[in-house]
Amino acid sequence: MAEVQSVQVLAASLGAIPPEFVRSEHEQPGATTFRGGAAPEVPVIDMSEAGCGARMAEAAREWGLFQVVNHGVPAEAVAELQRVGLDFFALPQEEKERYAMDPASGRIEGYGSKLQRDLEGKKTWVDFFFHNVAPPPMVNHDIWPKNPVGYREANEEYCRHMQRLTRELFGHLSVGLGLEKGAMREAFGGDDLVLLQKINFYPPCPQPELTLGVAPHTDMSTFTILVPNEVQGLQIFKDGHWYDAKYVPNALIIHIGDQIEILSNGRYKAVLHRTTVNKEKTRMSWPVFVEPSREHVVGPHPQLVTDETPAKYKAKKYKDYQYCKINKLPQ
Ligand code: SIN
Ligand code: FE2
Repeated sequence: MAEVQSVQVLAASLGAIPPEFVRSEHEQPGATTFRGGAAPEVPVIDMSEAGCGARMAEAAREWGLFQVVNHGVPAEAVAELQRVGLDFFALPQEEKERYAMDPASGRIEGYGSKLQRDLEGKKTWVDFFFHNVAPPPMVNHDIWPKNPVGYREANEEYCRHMQRLTRELFGHLSVGLGLEKGAMREAFGGDDLVLLQKINFYPPCPQPELTLGVAPHTDMSTFTILVPNEVQGLQIFKDGHWYDAKYVPNALIIHIGDQIEILSNGRYKAVLHRTTVNKEKTRMSWPVFVEPSREHVVGPHPQLVTDETPAKYKAKKYKDYQYCKINKLPQ
């Protein structure tokens, strides 16, 4: 069994963070978070209002990120997803480690920590669990937690809501590009789309101003639908500054990922984001990554490539895109 050196166990025993968690100064949140007064606020879009689609498209162009409310996902389904995730992380360490991921032996889903994975020696203050939730042939229930009771039901129920919401979001974002409503979902593979559920667990940290929960990145996905707990932590980079994306109760956070940036030929932007951690409280978040299947080819949509707007990105299989990004190779 792969041993996970979790941040959770480390955090429980410390007064100061080990040097490998101290980010270089240009990344430390204490030194780089915008504190200059009136910060622009991430758009919060009410999906029950007419015109919400146009606002989404604008936010996807300007920010690459927006929050949605009245999204139709019942509060109970969200609360249950959060309950089983929290209960999983409260299990004894040995029990969690039964689900340890082990990329060396091909087991890429499961429980893990950046402690064991960062090749550059830098570490981030987070443990996580992830597994596919759709489509059925991609789901391996053997690696889903057996404990707590209700884990599977909660994740399956939430996934059904994510599939419905995914369709709606793709519809609005397609129309915002002047495409048919179904165009974007179709271009990403339709029913073959893969949904990946992750749970991020950020334990309290004695020196939150020096470290990060997740280092700056854009998501590789089409988009990511994320629900956080109430502890502030997500930050996004816009116009040269790192801004807090304020916690909004009952909202879901939509991150535009690399695949939508590519398909839209750069009209929509993948958002550069990172997370901070908290001195007293555990932060958690539950992103669902909506991804093309590995063999699916993504490139700029033909209707968006014109003489005035030539293709800015190469078309390639999603697995090749992932390989280049993970290994920091040119795309
Ligand atoms: C992530 O980008 O992977 C996590 C974002 C979050 O926890 O809010
Ligand atoms: Fe992310």
